[in-house]
Amino acid sequence: MKYEKNREFLKSSAWSKTSNEKSDQELGLKQPEIFKSYNKNKLIKLKNFKEIKFKEKSFSEIITSRRTRRKYTDKALTLEQLSYLLYTSYGITDKSSNRYLRAAPSGGNRQTIVTYLIVQNIQGIKKGIYRYIPLENAIIFEKNIDNMEEITSNAARDQKWIKKAGVIFVWTTIPYRGEWRYTDKSHKLILLDAGHICQNLYLASEAIGLGTCAIAAYHQKPIDNLIGVDGTNEFVIYLAPVGNL
Ligand SMILES: Cc1cc2nc3c(=O)[nH]c(=O)nc-3n(C[C@H](O)[C@H](O)[C@H](O)COP(=O)(O)O)c2cc1C
Repeated sequence: MKYEKNREFLKSSAWSKTSNEKSDQELGLKQPEIFKSYNKNKLIKLKNFKEIKFKEKSFSEIITSRRTRRKYTDKALTLEQLSYLLYTSYGITDKSSNRYLRAAPSGGNRQTIVTYLIVQNIQGIKKGIYRYIPLENAIIFEKNIDNMEEITSNAARDQKWIKKAGVIFVWTTIPYRGEWRYTDKSHKLILLDAGHICQNLYLASEAIGLGTCAIAAYHQKPIDNLIGVDGTNEFVIYLAPVGNL
């Protein structure tokens, strides 16, 4: 059967290396940084999660009403809504005992994923590419792009409806954070991690009356270029626009 060989990837387990295969961690190489560096002077602080007072749906309502939503109104999102979505999808929820634990589970707590934002329509901040800095509960403005909505929807394989989203979450991975411990057996974990984060975003959006849609249909190079990642050490794996309904 022509697909069987590649199915091995789906069965691979980070914990099933052959006995003579050593990870870089086992070889004594330095652990890669678990957070990307950032310029402290450029932080745009987000609202503290504990101070956000939205009327949320109940958990059972969220689960039963959760749907993929692709039709958004022109109404801008607020920074408070963005703060809520970033924290609940992938914020740092526990800093105790020298470990950072986050809103989404992560295989081996390798946390290879980074959240970027394509801001199209959020009150109080200009359009452009931003990066989430969970350590500071903040975002950073990365760059302005001419014709951004057009370039984004082209990169998403011409899914034009995403132009009306207030923001597009873009998740990259820095694979070496996982490979350092688990070799290339970590790759399956990366995709599983991304799924958890995106599901959090679905549930959070549903909780506060917003809509989202997971997007795996995109062109790799254009989206990497748009976000400003090199396509080798860091690259995009998943997207999700969020908008008002
Ligand atoms: C991994 C993944 C990739 C997806 N990619 C796209 C996409 O590129 N474009 C799109 O319109 N919907 C995409 N979807 C949304 C699915 O079409 C949607 O989840 C599915 O139809 C089930 O509907 P529901 O989410 O409302 O239950 C994706 C969903 C997942 C989980």
